[in-house]
Amino acid sequence: MEERLQKILANAGVASRRKCEELIAAGKVTVNGEVVKALGVKADPVKDAIAVNGKKIKSESKLYLLFNKPKGVITSMHDEKGRTVVTDFLKGVKERVYPVGRLDYDTEGLLLLTNDGELANLLTHPRHHVAKTYLATVERVPHGDALDKLQKGIKLEDGMTAPAEIEYHDVDPESNQATISITIREGRNRQVRRMFEAIHHPVIRLKRVSFGGLTLDNLQRGKYRKLSEAEVQSLRDAAKKAERGG
Ligand code: URA
Repeated sequence: MEERLQKILANAGVASRRKCEELIAAGKVTVNGEVVKALGVKADPVKDAIAVNGKKIKSESKLYLLFNKPKGVITSMHDEKGRTVVTDFLKGVKERVYPVGRLDYDTEGLLLLTNDGELANLLTHPRHHVAKTYLATVERVPHGDALDKLQKGIKLEDGMTAPAEIEYHDVDPESNQATISITIREGRNRQVRRMFEAIHHPVIRLKRVSFGGLTLDNLQRGKYRKLSEAEVQSLRDAAKKAERGG
């Protein structure tokens, strides 16, 4: 993907974006052997050979991680109050990866992180929203009629929800709780919790088990793994399919 040269240089750790602009203007930067002095020129950090003072820069390679977020962790890079954030679990990762969308503090499960801004945008853009499946453990056992409402679309403060897929996953008469599998294609704030509140079955526990066809499998809580090329491609395909309304 093409980006402005100063951004590529700054991302590669050459200097601040401001300083990189100065380096470009001073004629110290070449793209494929040609000096580029104009600001605003774009290049592709993967395909183009970019050098500063004759030394080739190392552009950050793209990294895609699937993380099993524990509950009680903030989907953020830093927290001013010092609470645990997702990046606390990625100590061995040198690349600056960012969460793709977010999970609530109390929600656990599958969270993707990447430094590929293009794919992250594709996956979270309202037009492309891919399927996400959650297991929601709720108070009492919802009636089929109540679940039908969720399936068809229910009115929330911010409008009707799109149709969802719902299934009973587990019913526990002893604790009077049910675990429901719900697949949605939107990403509104606290959407699943609000959907179950709307049918008067508050969520006790929420776990995301699938995102764009990828699943947690046996990944332990608090652990992450790298996605394979095939998995990254399947995410791109899922985003394109979602755009077409599939
Ligand atoms: N819906 C919610 O209510 N919370 C999440 O974290 C994700 C989806």
